[in-house]
Amino acid sequence: MKLWSGRFESGTSQLMDLFNNSIQFDHRMYKEDLAGSLAHAKMLAKMGILTEDELKKLVLALKEIEAEIELGSFQFKIEDEDLHMAVEKQLTEKLGDLGKKIHTARSRNDQVALDFRLYVRRECRAIESLIRELMSVLLEHAAANTHVIMPGYTHLQKAQPVRLAYHLMAYFEMLKRDVSRFEDAFDRMDLSPIGSGALAGTSYESDRFMTAAELGFSGPSENAMDSVADRDFAVEFLSACAITMMHLSRLAEEFVIWSSGEFGFIEIGDAYATGSSIMPQKKNPDAAELIRGKTGRVYGDLMSLLTVMKGLPMAYNKDMQEDKEPVFDAGDTVKLCLKVFADMLRHTVFKPEPMLNQCKAGFLNATDLADYLVKKGMPFRDAHEVSGKLVAYAIKEKKILEALSLEAMQAVSDLIGEDVYDAIDIERCVENKKSYGSTSLASVQHMLKLGEEYLEV
Ligand code: ARG
Repeated sequence: MKLWSGRFESGTSQLMDLFNNSIQFDHRMYKEDLAGSLAHAKMLAKMGILTEDELKKLVLALKEIEAEIELGSFQFKIEDEDLHMAVEKQLTEKLGDLGKKIHTARSRNDQVALDFRLYVRRECRAIESLIRELMSVLLEHAAANTHVIMPGYTHLQKAQPVRLAYHLMAYFEMLKRDVSRFEDAFDRMDLSPIGSGALAGTSYESDRFMTAAELGFSGPSENAMDSVADRDFAVEFLSACAITMMHLSRLAEEFVIWSSGEFGFIEIGDAYATGSSIMPQKKNPDAAELIRGKTGRVYGDLMSLLTVMKGLPMAYNKDMQEDKEPVFDAGDTVKLCLKVFADMLRHTVFKPEPMLNQCKAGFLNATDLADYLVKKGMPFRDAHEVSGKLVAYAIKEKKILEALSLEAMQAVSDLIGEDVYDAIDIERCVENKKSYGSTSLASVQHMLKLGEEYLEV
């Protein structure tokens, strides 16, 4: 029999039970649900709605239920509809009428709002710490590779030489912002909805400040209707997940490219690569590709909840039961991708030689050659033209710029002197960058220091 069967003459169809239930997936919030019931029962006892003896019995029964769930002996039955009703039913089976009292001064609507918030809060913290772990592996590689120089790209065309550490630290910054997005979302969901009732508040003497404090919130939510209808917190969580995945997918894409034979900038360890069933020579970067691919599903989770919530009138609507699976899926996916990425990165070897060779072959010092001429007094636009001509000449001669003779260079501009070779040395090109946040060694070392400080706190 349903806990709400009073006004009904007959039961629901099996198909309706199957369609209507959320217990098949919401049982993963059992810790949150039991914590919410515990806090609520304590509050009811404080208000004199439950006796101290009744509270003791409830506390014990809630502990038993937790153990039963953890041991796998608790049966989540589809006909119980959802986690909240299954727990209440079990309390009643254990305690008789006392079990039926726990639902005083609350509703399933504020209960689910509470459980879900608690769950998402926990996910935020878990993801923050996994992002920081990935950041620490990035930092380790960066610190070990400050002298490695690689081509920097725009349009995936070789642009200017940069330090590998600098490139990796660009991702460190992105991930730092990701952490702060989860922190911000956490802070905004720091108000407790429990005790809001179905939508209008309750007529019992209650203390929502007490339950909020018991559950680790900074206070109770302000408006009961908003408390049961709000899913912004879940949307924000999904949005932070989507942005994090966007960042991971960009680095994943670089891993795919860098590990190709054409680039050969990295070797991904065997632990995170796979072979082909037919082509014996293949070593595929599947882990990186999957991270790139799973980004799509997390974006889908975000779009799914945004669309579920669109246009819903106040207050709770059953549509909102569709909020959980996308959030569970996104949280699981992001956590897994972060773990895999961190470990794949640990198992990755960076190859300085092909990186440097590509810098030389790609005329990545052409801008510096122009800058050299500017320092000798030539207007930049003309210097650009001269440098371009020398590149064209070098291509024709199948040479790198550094290998052109002084005479050949002076034939294009007599401002060029012996010191040009120093100016277009790849390492020198990197070191010439003086602006704050640039790729020079001192600047990168400063980034590493800030990175270490960030991870220490
Ligand atoms: N299982 C529901 C959910 O996940 C819980 C709230 C149901 N409330 C109601 N009045 N039907 O959203």
